[in-house]
Amino acid sequence: MDHGRLRPARVDEATALEDLMREASMIWNDHREDLLAHPDAIEVPRADLRAGRVRVHEVDGAVTGFATVLPLPDGTAELDALFVRPALMRHGIGARLVEDAVRGAREAGVPLLVVTANPRAEAFYVRCGFRTVGEAPTRFGPAIRMYRDMAPR
Ligand SMILES: CC(C)(COP(=O)(O)OP(=O)(O)OC[C@H]1O[C@@H](n2cnc3c(N)ncnc32)[C@H](O)[C@@H]1OP(=O)(O)O)[C@@H](O)C(=O)NCCC(=O)NCCS
Repeated sequence: MDHGRLRPARVDEATALEDLMREASMIWNDHREDLLAHPDAIEVPRADLRAGRVRVHEVDGAVTGFATVLPLPDGTAELDALFVRPALMRHGIGARLVEDAVRGAREAGVPLLVVTANPRAEAFYVRCGFRTVGEAPTRFGPAIRMYRDMAPR
């Protein structure tokens, strides 16, 4: 059960969020070698933090997950990063970060949230109300494009 709270990320948390991102990314074994070979892939852009586009989940003052939502030129928005500390996965934190992102997008009048997902995360996103619309290969291999519209579920 998730008893944490959500808040905007601070700029001085960038390195801590990157550590969490690295740790969470490593759970998919197929990414491990790529990430070790391309450490630059682990980055939380300071501009996103400054712009208030990153939200963190914390429990007792410790950050347990975060999500970044970026506005797109067509008026939709992209869930660009979503990571949960591995020891706390499957406790509802990821789903709560998604709901928080959806709420923020809805308040901003954004009609659609899109995500380019690791196929291993598809079941999670489906559970969170996204549907798969196609493939979207990335530098690290196959990925899928998924959408969630803003209508209440
Ligand atoms: C994907 C991720 C954010 C999910 O976070 P989480 O806090 O563990 O997810 P939740 O506990 O909110 O899961 C909600 C539901 O999604 C589904 N789900 C979550 N993880 C799943 C998995 N690994 N396999 C299958 N279903 C999964 C389940 O139905 C789950 O509900 P349940 O636990 O009651 O069965 C987390 O696994 C993660 O950080 N992964 C590594 C990074 C990553 O891939 N991020 C997404 C980028 S595309």
